[in-house]
Amino acid sequence: MEEYTASILFDKELAEEDIQGSLAHVTMLGKCGILPLDDVEKIKDGLLHVQGMIRRGELEFSVSDEDIHMNIEKALIDEVGPVGGKLHTGRSRNDQVATDMHLYLRKRVVEFVGLLNKLQEALIGQAKQNLETIVPGYTHLQRAQPILFAHHLMAYVSMFQRDIERLQDSYKRINVLPLGAGALAGTTFPIDRHFVAEQLGFDGVYENSLDAVSDRDFIIEFLSNASMIMMHLSRLSEEFILWSSTEFHFIELDDAFCTGSSIMPQKKNPDVPELVRGKTGRVYGNLVGLLTVLKSLPLAYNKDMQEDKEGMFDTVRTLQGALQLYAPMVSTMKVNKERMRQAVNQDFSNATDIADYLVNKGLPFRQAHEVIGKTVLYCIQNGKFLLDLTLDEFHQFSKLFEQDIYKVLQPEQVVNARNVYGGTASNQVSEAIARAEAVFNKTNEWFEQYSK
Ligand code: ARG
Repeated sequence: MEEYTASILFDKELAEEDIQGSLAHVTMLGKCGILPLDDVEKIKDGLLHVQGMIRRGELEFSVSDEDIHMNIEKALIDEVGPVGGKLHTGRSRNDQVATDMHLYLRKRVVEFVGLLNKLQEALIGQAKQNLETIVPGYTHLQRAQPILFAHHLMAYVSMFQRDIERLQDSYKRINVLPLGAGALAGTTFPIDRHFVAEQLGFDGVYENSLDAVSDRDFIIEFLSNASMIMMHLSRLSEEFILWSSTEFHFIELDDAFCTGSSIMPQKKNPDVPELVRGKTGRVYGNLVGLLTVLKSLPLAYNKDMQEDKEGMFDTVRTLQGALQLYAPMVSTMKVNKERMRQAVNQDFSNATDIADYLVNKGLPFRQAHEVIGKTVLYCIQNGKFLLDLTLDEFHQFSKLFEQDIYKVLQPEQVVNARNVYGGTASNQVSEAIARAEAVFNKTNEWFEQYSK
């Protein structure tokens, strides 16, 4: 029964937060006259001693003390004697564990903003080196219109920016103190919750004591934000996997992020993006798992809530692993510009521009679309691309074609013609990069401020 109900095997990860919370709590007990100051000093010294033991790996945790909170309290009493038993005055494990989770997660959220920012930096770096690299843009995974490779990469910078903003916004709901709620109803001791909040750097305290000990929304919100990040990473991973196949051969990932095959020497497997894509599943699983644990759970604390931890720790580790590898993988990848160019030259992704050309000469778009349909069909039947056609051949389909059609169909021209805010024209992409860099610097400042 002890083994089944204990959480020490995984919640020992909260040791630092637990001690941090206890130090603030006992300081408050002294300040409010609930404990004599020399008891407070003894308990603080004892807590710091236990902290040192844990850091050095000297404290042996035991399942018979159930969780990290009781293991630390036991070690404290072993160290300072019965006075250690006064630490838990005016507190319950219910508000204590919630406090630890808030302290833990707010640190992680800042860390992930920093890691996402690093990934944006890597993507922007590649984008800057590919401001002239033209690549087919796809819809339905069919070549649609040529775009700048930089434009494609910058789409991910925007996606990760939304992830950053979601994390930053969640911070204000994480950074609220539950301690002082007691088991569920508050406490009979004249405590000062705001003083504890101030010591621990919380922006405020929970309004309602039942809510304080029952709320796990902030963890679910984190798991949801993490799922979105993994979903974005898995889309990028899928593109990297496709692009590094022999069929595409658009990029080459550095050997450091790939493995060879034990029996097929020609292979270089994109292990990192494949695993990131695969690990997205467990992150979604942890989200749905906790949502389900909390569903229909009556107020206030229930033992079910101990199940909030393993999924959260697992998600944190999974995200750390993926993000730590992703930035260097992006900045070291080789972009095969010639191969991309070849792909653009050998497709019909400039077809839309013929239609637009005819529209500019006065033909209604529907008719222009028909002309271009016939022209492309002719090309396919004769093994040609649009730029291979002679003016006479063009004239079979419309007399409106003139010499300038050859200029209009050049990939550079096709790309730069999309000169609209947010479009792929090179001056637009350059401006988008400049804007992204300004936002990047703001995020970096936020990170510096919050990681203190
Ligand atoms: N180990 C418990 C958890 O992680 C701590 C809170 C236990 N509270 C209680 N009344 N049993 O949820």
